[in-house]
Amino acid sequence: MLYIGIDLGTSAVKLLLMDSQGKMKKIVSREYPIYFPQPGWSEQNPEDWWIQTIDGLQELLADADREQVAGISFGGQMHGLVILDAEDQVIRPAILWNDGRTQKECDYLNQVIGRAKLSEYTANIAFAGFTAPKLLWLRNNEPEHFAGIAKIMLPKDYLAYRLTGIHCTDVSDASGMLLFDVKNRCWSKEMCEICGVRENQLAKCYESYEKVGYVLPEIAQKLGIPETCIVAAGAGDNAAAAVGTGTVGGGSCNISLGTSGTVFISARNFGVDSHNALHSFAHADGKYHLMGCMLSAASCNKWWMDDVIGVTDYDGEQAGIPEEKLGENRVFFLPYLMGERSPHNDPNARGTFIGMSMDTTRADMTQAVLEGVAFALRDSLEVARSLGVCPERTKICGGGAKSPLWKKIMANVFGMKVDVVETEEGPAMGAAMLAAVAAGEYASVEEIARKFVRVTDTVEPEQELIRKYNTCYLKFREIYPACKQVYEILAK
Ligand code: XUL
Repeated sequence: MLYIGIDLGTSAVKLLLMDSQGKMKKIVSREYPIYFPQPGWSEQNPEDWWIQTIDGLQELLADADREQVAGISFGGQMHGLVILDAEDQVIRPAILWNDGRTQKECDYLNQVIGRAKLSEYTANIAFAGFTAPKLLWLRNNEPEHFAGIAKIMLPKDYLAYRLTGIHCTDVSDASGMLLFDVKNRCWSKEMCEICGVRENQLAKCYESYEKVGYVLPEIAQKLGIPETCIVAAGAGDNAAAAVGTGTVGGGSCNISLGTSGTVFISARNFGVDSHNALHSFAHADGKYHLMGCMLSAASCNKWWMDDVIGVTDYDGEQAGIPEEKLGENRVFFLPYLMGERSPHNDPNARGTFIGMSMDTTRADMTQAVLEGVAFALRDSLEVARSLGVCPERTKICGGGAKSPLWKKIMANVFGMKVDVVETEEGPAMGAAMLAAVAAGEYASVEEIARKFVRVTDTVEPEQELIRKYNTCYLKFREIYPACKQVYEILAK
């Protein structure tokens, strides 16, 4: 049998074809635009997602034995607000996870409703990218759009709808809406009331590995796949990536270096960070996880290389960083190009280079970008450590994980072994695995992860470099608090 994993990312959709034994047969990627209508805003057209997905599926299946395709599932960029009218037409462009327009609504939720109540209802507090504050923003700023909403969806669920005609979502992605009672894995009546939303405007919520339905006959015909091909609910991209890297069960860690950067720690039991600096979400394996999310990770490197220094050969540029400079850089970079989520929760924060002198080189600044992202991820890891959650090693995935230098920096900034798995395509692979579980090939997500995921390399941290990077990290930690007020002034 064959399974398809669709990873609906921020810059592109990746489609992966896998066989029943976990062998990746083919991967296809299709890009679409992202719009920044105002500084700190970020939107996409759901129709672009669909056009590129269906086109990509045709290429993916071009020389495959299409009759064997038994299941499709998803990993998707989280938190995005997609709204449909009574005819299931998209009302306005989707407002994405890294959109920072909802500061006022977040302040209302966190301060007037109160963090304690939000945490009691949903296990989380309001962050600018989350879905509920966007609904409040819509009610305040585009009341005609708000009034026309028949269905509220998350990005990947729009694809599921176009493939099956069914409105569905899954527990991991629903967790990031701030409308979901994470502990009890159901919609929160209180939050629906606070946001002026009826439960029937929300999709039916499934476990990630559950079958939602079948591909529509006309889609099956177009793709040449059987009408018996099932569609599984899938997961938010981080939970899907965790499945794809075998970060399931209790106490495993995965770091994703994509457009966003996340530290993901799986947990067998429900738990909340008492300061809510880390998200407490349902996991795609039927259990839970804690997660810290930074808004710009590999995208900082892309911005630096593509837009600032105008370089396409990232490896070549990184080769200019001398080995002995690691842990010695006097330049620091705060990677807050889209504001920051974890742990600062500050949409006004901005990217900042500091510490340059007349002898600073371009290589120092390139290095500072890589290190700044690692330090910012360590901020989330330190929150987990303060809760007594201290993973000794981590998996890594995402575009940034292709850089050997970045992996080395990560291992030494975290002081952890970094395991590289055979298939780097975390979310797309995880999605295909969820489809295989939903189709009944494997009994559970833990079982398929045990069978499929192989560690092929481990980056070991070095004591001396850990020590040097600890010193640098302590300096890095001082910079954001010193700049916070300046960011506020700049935002006015
Ligand atoms: C997680 C988050 C991002 C997006 C990226 O909370 O906002 O990782 O899911 O696609």
